[in-house]
Amino acid sequence: MRTLRRVGILTSGGDCPGLNAAIRAFVKLALRKGVEVWGFRNGWEGVVEKNYRRLTARDVSGILPLGGTILGTSRYNPLRRKGDVERALSTLENLDALVVIGGNGSIHIAHAFQRMWGKVIFIPKTIDNDIWGTESIGFNTAVEVATHLIDRLHSTAESHRRVFVVQLMGRHTGWITLYAGMAAGADVMVIPEFPIGEEEIARYVLRRKRMGKSFSIVAVAEGVRYAHQREQNVGIYLQRYLARVLDIETRFVEIGYVLRGGTPTAYDRLMAHEMGHLAFVLAEEGRFGCVTAYNGYVERGVPIERMVGRLKTVPPEEYFAALPYFG
Ligand code: F6P
Repeated sequence: MRTLRRVGILTSGGDCPGLNAAIRAFVKLALRKGVEVWGFRNGWEGVVEKNYRRLTARDVSGILPLGGTILGTSRYNPLRRKGDVERALSTLENLDALVVIGGNGSIHIAHAFQRMWGKVIFIPKTIDNDIWGTESIGFNTAVEVATHLIDRLHSTAESHRRVFVVQLMGRHTGWITLYAGMAAGADVMVIPEFPIGEEEIARYVLRRKRMGKSFSIVAVAEGVRYAHQREQNVGIYLQRYLARVLDIETRFVEIGYVLRGGTPTAYDRLMAHEMGHLAFVLAEEGRFGCVTAYNGYVERGVPIERMVGRLKTVPPEEYFAALPYFG
C-alpha cells in the first residue's frame, strides 16, 4: 500500500450519464483517506493549461444523479500539439496518480501518458459501448432512453400507417441500435457491423404490409454508410430511399445527444460508483496502467495495453439471435 498525497481526476471525450457518480465515489474515498484531489477542467486541456481546482466534499455532494460532468470535458488531444506533452508532464509531476474517465479516443492518450509517466488509471465510459473488454458508463442509460423514445414513436407510426426511420448514435458500432431496437420492438435494425442492403430493408417493410401491418420502425446506427448515400445522415438517406420505392408514408427521426443527457439509470450509477471506488484502491495499491473493467462485476484492474486500439463490436451471435425478429 502506498501513501498517496495528491491525486488528479479528469473526464475526457463525449459526456454521458454516470460520470459524476464515478467522480463522486473516487473523490469521497480519497478525501476520507486524507488524500488531496485535483479536478482538471475540460479533459486533457486542463492538465496542459494547469486548469484545475482542489475538490472538496461539498463539490461532490448531490452530484450522484446528475448527468454531464462537474469537471467539464473536451476531445482535446495533447499528443497532437507541439509542446503540450511537456506542459502536461510538468503538471503531472505534482501528482501521485491520475484517473482518466474516457472513451476510445481518451484511452489512447491515457496509454501514452502511462508509458511516459506511469501513474494513470482509466475508467471506461461511452454511450457507444465500444471499448474493448468492458462495459462502459453511460451505455445502459442510453439504451433505456432510446427504448422509451422508440416506444413513443410507435403510436404515431401505427395511427398514421407510416414508416419511421430512426437514426441513433453509434459512431462505429450498433450496440445502442440493436439493444434499444430489440427492447422497443423495432422491425429492422441496421448496424455498421452487419449493414443489410436497402432492398432488404424495403422487403421487411413490405412483408409487414402484406401481413396487414401498415407501419414499421427501422432503427439505424449513425455509423452505417451505403455506397449510394450522398446525405450526411444515413437515416435521411434510408427514409428517402424507402419513400421512393414503397407506397408508404415515411418519416425520419434522429435520436442523438438526448441519449447523452439526463440522469443515469441505477445500473450506470452503481457501475460508475464501483469503478470510481476501484480506481482509488488501484492507486493506493500502486497498480497503475490499469482499466477498471466491468463485465457484470468490476474486475481488479485490466492492463490498458490489453484494451487500447481494439473496438468492441456487436458479435455475430447477438446480431443473428435478433434477426428472426426482423420484419
Ligand atoms: O462517442 C459517443 C458519441 O456520442 C457518438 O455516439 C457520436 O458519434 C459522437 O459521440 C458525437 O461526438 P460529438 O459530441 O463530438 O459531436
